[in-house]
Amino acid sequence: MPVPAVRPLIAGNWKMNGLKAAASEFDAMLEGAKKVSSGIDLLVCPPATLIAAFADRLAAAHEHGAMPVAIGAQDCHTNASGAHTGDISAEMLADAGARAIIVGHSERRADHGETDAIVRTKAQAVWRAGLVAIVCVGETQGERNAGHTLDVVAGQLAGSLPDGATAVNLVVAYEPVWAIGTGMTPTAADVEEVHGFIRQTLTQRFNAEGERMRLLYGGSVKPSNASELMAVPNVNGALVGGASLKAADFLAIAAGCP
Ligand code: PGA
Repeated sequence: MPVPAVRPLIAGNWKMNGLKAAASEFDAMLEGAKKVSSGIDLLVCPPATLIAAFADRLAAAHEHGAMPVAIGAQDCHTNASGAHTGDISAEMLADAGARAIIVGHSERRADHGETDAIVRTKAQAVWRAGLVAIVCVGETQGERNAGHTLDVVAGQLAGSLPDGATAVNLVVAYEPVWAIGTGMTPTAADVEEVHGFIRQTLTQRFNAEGERMRLLYGGSVKPSNASELMAVPNVNGALVGGASLKAADFLAIAAGCP
């Protein structure tokens, strides 16, 4: 049976970057997005402090024609509300205008001790709020050197993905930890191996939904390597960090999407 076409997604993870003045960069993304192929979705995940302001700008842009852009968030608490000083719930992010939330990014796993079980509960929180969960997995350099990449990814997928995942409510991002922010990327053949393995794992567990889930590659994606990486089988877009901060780079990556 032919595998159904999967609509690509280029997601930008701004991490802890961006003050109010960055709204002009977001406006430039909105302007440029009008020229991006209508077959591609764009997602911008700014720091939580900017979500509501960006959502307002996006809504204003929508009035002049549908935009293939949505706003996302980078993390959420597992609970909807309560005594959790400094935390932000998925419901609050939805209320601010987010349509998707990244969970289990390797920086959250490393900096905040987030386990697969925590990531799974966060993904369920994202769904509870009616949003799309973007769950990140990926091996460290040591794990790759030891030949454990597929075992590590298998364990993360099994532990981090809740039952009930569909092609609509879940996106999986494969981000080798050693490729994030380093300028290093795996070879196209290595990406193909891991993405093929993730597709197989998702299809075994989620059946037809698993065939259509979007699998993003992340880690040092930039305009100069985007088209090669995006052309790899089972790569349905990118999760972009540093290069998503500048509209010109982010849009050039989207333009490299087949
Ligand atoms: P990078 O980050 O593109 O700056 O390597 C990717 C990510 O962490 O999502």
